[in-house]
Amino acid sequence: MEASQMTTTIFSTIVIMLLSSAITAQSSADVGGKPKPTDFMVGACKNASNFSRGYTEGYNYVSQEFCISTLQSDNRSANAKNLRDLALIPVDILKERVVIAGGNVKKMLHNTKNSTSSTARHLRICELNYAATASILNFCDALMRDYQGERSTGHDNDGPLSSKLPECVDKVYEVSSYCALALLAMPGVEALVKERHQLDMLIDLSMALLAPYKDLES
Ligand SMILES: *[C@@H]1O[C@H](CO)[C@@H](O)[C@H](O)[C@H]1NC(C)=O
Ligand SMILES: *[C@@H]1O[C@H](CO)[C@@H](O)[C@H](O)[C@H]1NC(C)=O
Ligand SMILES: *[C@@H]1O[C@H](CO)[C@@H](O)[C@H](O)[C@H]1NC(C)=O
Ligand SMILES: *[C@@H]1O[C@H](CO)[C@@H](O)[C@H](O)[C@H]1NC(C)=O
Repeated sequence: MEASQMTTTIFSTIVIMLLSSAITAQSSADVGGKPKPTDFMVGACKNASNFSRGYTEGYNYVSQEFCISTLQSDNRSANAKNLRDLALIPVDILKERVVIAGGNVKKMLHNTKNSTSSTARHLRICELNYAATASILNFCDALMRDYQGERSTGHDNDGPLSSKLPECVDKVYEVSSYCALALLAMPGVEALVKERHQLDMLIDLSMALLAPYKDLES
């Protein structure tokens, strides 16, 4: 019985995910006021979505449309000179969203009557988990801003190695996944699960954009 309940939960989560990606795809059709995608952006998004197809095996897939519409939401994308500039955009969106998501978990915890129930325990873990995620995100953001470009011999470059950037975002994913699993085990938290999925999509986008840096100077 437990197993079939779990299956139902996973199934409804997948339905929510499909619905939310359909909504994202739809909203990317209207381009009013946003900067036009540059050739660099389109190329980077093509590569990112190709990377994501191999990496996530259909789960949390980063489509080219999702990539472009997210990058377009920030004017900095028009002047991006490298993948770091682009990957900073989802990271900066995440920094705000993680704080909001943490606040929503806190609110739900506040409304949970039984403080020793498993829901309360899971929510407390999630609250701390979002705080930890926000902290690593701030660190990765600083690391990415400190990036001085690909190192080449004979040049003075004391910034982080290219490969450190995707490594850092990987850590964000790893840490934040604790809460994702805890939420899946809880009934009545569909809004939090959906919010959580949107965070995952942005983390995946940042990782996919930075993927070519993995093989540089590692
Ligand atoms: C996309 O990938 C191709 C093949 O690896 C590479 O030549 C090209 O520079 C990449 N484009 C961008 C914008 O990173
Ligand atoms: C797509 O990704 C695969 C593996 O991730 C890679 O081998 C291939 O070169 C990529 N294609 C392009 C056009 O970037
Ligand atoms: C982004 O660019 C558009 C068009 O150039 C402009 O209307 C908008 O105010 C800019 N937004 C920001 C936040 O700079
Ligand atoms: C609170 O939850 C715990 C663990 O599920 C349970 O043992 C306890 O009886 C609950 N207390 C109340 C007041 O419902």
